[in-house]
Amino acid sequence: MGRLLRTGLNAGTEAPQVVGGEGVHFHLSDGRKVLDGSNTGGPLGHGHPRMAEALREAAGLPMVSEGWNWRGRDKAAEDLFEVALKGEEHWAGAVRFCLSGSEGNDIALSLSQALTGRKAIATRERAYHGLVGLSRDVTVQPHWHGGLAAPNGGTKVPPPGAKVHVLPAPEGATYLSATEAARRQPSLDERLAGAAEKLRDSAAVIIDYTQGGYYHDGAYQDAVAGIARREGCLWIADEVVTGVGRSGRPFAFQGGDTRPDIVTLGKGLGGGMVSVAAIVVSKDVAAELDGKSWQNYGTLRGHPMAMAAVSAYLGIVRDEDLLDRVRALEVLYARRLTEIASRHPSVARVAGQGLHWTIELHGPDWRNWLADTPEAPIASRVAGHALGAGAVIGTSGEQVSLFLAPPLIISEAESERLLSILDDSLFLADREHNATMEGAH
Ligand SMILES: Cc1ncc(COP(=O)(O)O)c(C=O)c1O
Repeated sequence: MGRLLRTGLNAGTEAPQVVGGEGVHFHLSDGRKVLDGSNTGGPLGHGHPRMAEALREAAGLPMVSEGWNWRGRDKAAEDLFEVALKGEEHWAGAVRFCLSGSEGNDIALSLSQALTGRKAIATRERAYHGLVGLSRDVTVQPHWHGGLAAPNGGTKVPPPGAKVHVLPAPEGATYLSATEAARRQPSLDERLAGAAEKLRDSAAVIIDYTQGGYYHDGAYQDAVAGIARREGCLWIADEVVTGVGRSGRPFAFQGGDTRPDIVTLGKGLGGGMVSVAAIVVSKDVAAELDGKSWQNYGTLRGHPMAMAAVSAYLGIVRDEDLLDRVRALEVLYARRLTEIASRHPSVARVAGQGLHWTIELHGPDWRNWLADTPEAPIASRVAGHALGAGAVIGTSGEQVSLFLAPPLIISEAESERLLSILDDSLFLADREHNATMEGAH
């Protein structure tokens, strides 16, 4: 064991080191340049010149803790409202910055508990909201339990801090295999039949728009938000992945009519160069905070470097028309992935939005995966083959899911290359799927 404690998502000690990066490519220690096809924290790829320049300038700024006023922090808040929340001023109230998506969700959930006086919290099936405090509690993907998983079997899982209710996930897909399509899909009303009871004692329900391969569904959002309002439960939109870029619109929730009480942002908000996240509260929640001290503080939150990065990133989103670009590429990914999936018997489902796409394979049920088996799951082996062929494809640590989330600056030609490497690599999954099907007959 070396000095560094690695995570379960690590490519392994055998994988080549990343030694640099430029544009949409990583540079590896073995001399290769591989296409970065799955990096939700790097919306501008690597070394974007305008980001780099902003941070070079910011390196000369003082270290100002969150306890001090700092003009750059007010400016980042104003920029967020001007670039991302334009048109949403009728309900959006104010923002507080923090360090990570996990922290943002934990703060949003604990604020909801304080405001409602309730302890339970709710999410939907197969969600990931972080691995800190209450965000870990609502991370209900079984393998991301925050504890220990031994490869030869056995887990040590920390007990949850709060009672967690789990709602069914939204459905919806761009492509379904014949077996998946033949499965009966319950109606929205049927799926949400028990939701009111679950939200009745919940402080908040938190919904995200990518995890587990479940994307935005306006009808689902509006139904859950309506139930939450009736039951006195707050609604948090977790836009840590989708906010300000990746979904091709400022926020994924804009696909529905309802608006959240709280929105959390993170990942790409710092342009891929600093760790920064944000909690946006509605006007109603802001009014509740008015005249009170929200006793929640962090030394390095709202740091001048982070605030400079937020302002620079938002400026780039606006000046380079990044959202238009993502929407145009969304059409290409939808078309090509549908076509690829229809040629690969191993693919069960494809879903996505903007520049975030999930390719779910037939295989073991994700509900039983605790990351405690020695053999690499099929998704990791497909991703391993893709890396050998020159592209990084993500798995989220799931056994049967692959995901693409390239930098928002990726070109059409680079996208075609990424998709064709995925196409070639899926032969591994087909071979395994075909063998399983033959064995079953
Ligand atoms: C939807 C969602 N929310 C929150 C988080 C947590 O963000 P972070 O890893 O920055 O703490 C993630 C991370 O993958 C996420 O996908």
